Amino acid sequence: MVNSHVRSSLVILFCLILLPRAWSQTWANDPKTEARIDSILKQMTLEEKIGQLNQYSVGEATGPGGSKENYADMVAKGEVGSLYNVPNGEKINEFQKIAVEKSRLHVPLIFGLDVIHGYRTTFPVPLALSATWDPKIVEKSARVAAIEASAAGVRWTFSPMVDIARDARWGRITEGAGEDPYLGEAMARAYVRGYQGTSLSNPDSIAACLKHFVGYGAAEGGREYNSTEIPERLLRQVYLPPFHAGLEQGAVTLMSAFNSLNGVPASANPFTLGQVLRKEWQFRGFVVSDWTSVAELQNHGIANDGATAARKAFTAGVDMDMESNLYWTTLAPQFKSGAIPMARLDEAVRGILRVKFALGLFDHPYADLSRASTVMLAPDHLAASKQAAEESFVLLKNDGVNGSPLLPLKADAKVALIGPLADSAKDMLGSWSTEGKADDALTLRKTLTERLGDKLIYAKGTDIRTDSEAGFAEATTAAKEADVVIVALGEDAAWMTGEAGSRAHLGLPGNQEKLLETIAATGKPVVLLVFSGRPLVLDWAASHVAAIMECWFPGLQAGAALAETLYGQNNPSGHLTTSFPRAVGQEPLYYNQLPTGRPPKDVDLTQPPTAGTEKYVSRYVDEQNTALYPFGFGLSYTTFTYSPVTLSSSTVRAADLNAGKPGLTVTAEVRNTGSVAGTEVVQLYINQRGTSVSRPIRELKGFERVTLQPGESKRVQFTLGRDELAFWNIDMKDVVEPASVKVWVAGSSTEGQPVQFAVE
Ligand code: BGC
Repeated sequence: MVNSHVRSSLVILFCLILLPRAWSQTWANDPKTEARIDSILKQMTLEEKIGQLNQYSVGEATGPGGSKENYADMVAKGEVGSLYNVPNGEKINEFQKIAVEKSRLHVPLIFGLDVIHGYRTTFPVPLALSATWDPKIVEKSARVAAIEASAAGVRWTFSPMVDIARDARWGRITEGAGEDPYLGEAMARAYVRGYQGTSLSNPDSIAACLKHFVGYGAAEGGREYNSTEIPERLLRQVYLPPFHAGLEQGAVTLMSAFNSLNGVPASANPFTLGQVLRKEWQFRGFVVSDWTSVAELQNHGIANDGATAARKAFTAGVDMDMESNLYWTTLAPQFKSGAIPMARLDEAVRGILRVKFALGLFDHPYADLSRASTVMLAPDHLAASKQAAEESFVLLKNDGVNGSPLLPLKADAKVALIGPLADSAKDMLGSWSTEGKADDALTLRKTLTERLGDKLIYAKGTDIRTDSEAGFAEATTAAKEADVVIVALGEDAAWMTGEAGSRAHLGLPGNQEKLLETIAATGKPVVLLVFSGRPLVLDWAASHVAAIMECWFPGLQAGAALAETLYGQNNPSGHLTTSFPRAVGQEPLYYNQLPTGRPPKDVDLTQPPTAGTEKYVSRYVDEQNTALYPFGFGLSYTTFTYSPVTLSSSTVRAADLNAGKPGLTVTAEVRNTGSVAGTEVVQLYINQRGTSVSRPIRELKGFERVTLQPGESKRVQFTLGRDELAFWNIDMKDVVEPASVKVWVAGSSTEGQPVQFAVE
């Protein structure tokens, strides 16, 4: 006989292991609101219900189609649920007035916009924000964006993009947090906290939209909109967790992706939208399609006409149709004929109304536009953007010139500033800069001119994408006259990064590398500043240039943040969140790979294989395996050392962890061994062996930014419990299994000395 205490423990254990990890969506469980929704649903005609499912762009087009009609009549008849890309707040309030005063049931509209990394105050691009490893500044960036966007009437952003991206060829890698799911989860939570604030109903909160559900980042060949093949375990282990984390944090909407996933388009995928999102995660908000992704189901080949496309998307779980206009034109007869159950319609409308209620739109439908004049570009917003930029720069190389590191620069040095990114304000904004204006952006040239006066010589040298060498001579002369040369090179933000910005070559575009070689040939010390939305192949620079810093696209305060970093008022602390390849052929390249049966142990990978046994390991015959600059890597103007790692225990029981008991603690001491203050990103990695499925050779399971004065040290402590040690095992259960576990605490994914413990 099992006694009742044991039985109830077993029941709890069973629930923990087998039940979906649902959470209380407090915003979606208010009985009074549910009663109000019931009452609206009862009064709605079929057309009014379907009306809620339609979304149209007013103005700007970011995809094919892009309607530019006047929607006033449709809104008055209750035929529209949402408008986006509405040009300004006044227009938003005008449309809202029609919805709440003229439409029969007075249901307010929800107004959306792609507020991706700031609204008017542009922050660094999201990939740069992730390189801060600082969820607080990321949250702040989203808060600032929400305050500004809501002051212009926007209450819903199509952000954050939480797609994991392991392939630098994909242009949209710039919109996310890089290649790691653990970091991706932390960033997803930070954005949602920032956008949605303490309560979604606050007038300066905006609804978050986790996108693109799901697998878009795994586009084959890095080619935009391409199909993806992701086995279920990998999907659950790597691609789904940031979405789940964002929902746990309270995100109220998701966007379904363009790509097909394992042969089933993500915008009509019953497994991800139905089984995972609604059944397992019990999502109670709503899903919007991506731009015309419902109509595109026909191109995917799973629908021969618009009506079938609409039915497949809607029944799979896409509640709102962005821009295809197919829900409006084709769903009604399909409900009438019973081809689609009415219950599904009520579920979708209910989700949309819930979000509108949560935003307080029924009680306060209009935006208070008077805030706009004080909040746009407010001093603390610009300060936050500058701080984010400063924390995002990743110092990749800083070699000695005449016995001391080239950076920070000496105040009295004569400087030549060369390159097409030195004075390009529009590129500082990055892709998707919404209301960000190039006129508000500080370039490096602008800031350095003020700072250095006639100690600065500027020459553009070349354009971003050209073969013309017309500017090379002037640039060479400038370099020869200077003590040190700053060369600012990189990508065209709008054309080469972001949506539809896939690249097959990852070098510096145009003839920029040739310009760099020409400048380096003068013999003057060179600092290379790289502006890009993705990892680039920097192999030539890495072996020929003294200092390299990855600057991404830093936002409005680019010049100020860069100047302070170059001159040492800011000590770089960014670390990479994507692996920088040596060659494009290494892509997809990511640190948390699975082991192989033939690891290239004891083989000199820096040399091509010459003899038989060197060849038959997992390697290239013409390139090294490793990243040029790995995940987690980033230098500082100071140096840090790590004490040996200690563990609170050498064994822990899988059953205890699965039952929710605490795990063990991992401690290491970090010391600043240089002569200036600095911030280290302390990273915890694990590897598990002896498990039912292969586990990555290293996985991030904790991180902390630690600021230390010269000589100062600090103990950093992490915990390893169920959340960190569980994985999707051979039975597709998310559990902790017995394993031998290696643990590293280090400043990058390739450093540190492991210690070991056992999960029994
Ligand atoms: C993009 C989405 C974006 C939408 C609305 C699409 O082309 O893929 O990320 O939110 O347009 O502008």
